[in-house]
Amino acid sequence: MICFFDGKFLEVSEINLSPFDRGFLFADGVYESIRTYNGKLFRYEDHFNRLKRSLKEIKIDFENLNSLENIIYELIKKNEIKGEAIVYIQITRGSAIPRTHHFPTEQTSPTLFISVNELVENIKERENGVKVILQEDIRWIRCDIKSISLLPVVLANQKAKEENAVDAIFVRDGLITEGTHTNFFAVKDETVYTAPKSRMILEGITRKVVLEFCQKFKVDYREEFINKDDLKSFNEFFITSTTKEITPVITIDYWTINKGEIGKITKSLQSVFKKVAEDY
Ligand code: PDD
Repeated sequence: MICFFDGKFLEVSEINLSPFDRGFLFADGVYESIRTYNGKLFRYEDHFNRLKRSLKEIKIDFENLNSLENIIYELIKKNEIKGEAIVYIQITRGSAIPRTHHFPTEQTSPTLFISVNELVENIKERENGVKVILQEDIRWIRCDIKSISLLPVVLANQKAKEENAVDAIFVRDGLITEGTHTNFFAVKDETVYTAPKSRMILEGITRKVVLEFCQKFKVDYREEFINKDDLKSFNEFFITSTTKEITPVITIDYWTINKGEIGKITKSLQSVFKKVAEDY
């Protein structure tokens, strides 16, 4: 497996990461995940802008970002990826000695790491629907930044795995925010609901695409928080992300929705997505 690290294409075994890298010591960095459709990076511009924003919010200056897209395509080629690729990009504040809680006083150069893998499509999940569980949202309140500091996510997603669920959906002060690595949607009276853009969620690119579909096909939607206690008044649910696309939710904790039938609106949004992906 060839990765891009420290300005070079290297075999994983050739990568030398300093233990003083602030990503390693403090999770002081940000990331992006991008996938391809027909070999083309999906909504690259949106991912790139979100990465730039995350960097700006945590005050990392990274100058060489413009070559990123070419590097990614080169990396996909070098790894001879068959089918579609999933790309992981991470930028940390770089390595500095001694370890200090504040930014290093000496100028450090950020560490850029990129890996690509063949994407395993979650076809069965998209066809049959999945189970999710609810978990208290114990993350920080800058979830709009795609930070690599993901311990609450790891714990909640592990709990989901132990309960045979594909994701945990976070609840903060009684309100549904989002999944560990997905955005959450619910449907009631033919209207699609999802949490509003705020510091409590990541503005997912797939979320944005779904809302664009709603606009285009005149499906009503509202960006509003859903109260956990009102969940049962909705009759369709789905989660979205780069890797999950639009995945129907048929079970939340012990509640099976609609006898496990996937909802009408969810299905139609999935078919619009499928068409867009095929023609991408
Ligand atoms: N996660 N919310 C959170 C907290 C996420 O981490 C993600 C993405 C999303 C969906 O965003 P998008 O549609 O842009 O993928 C929402 C990526 C896939 C990850 O963690 O690898």
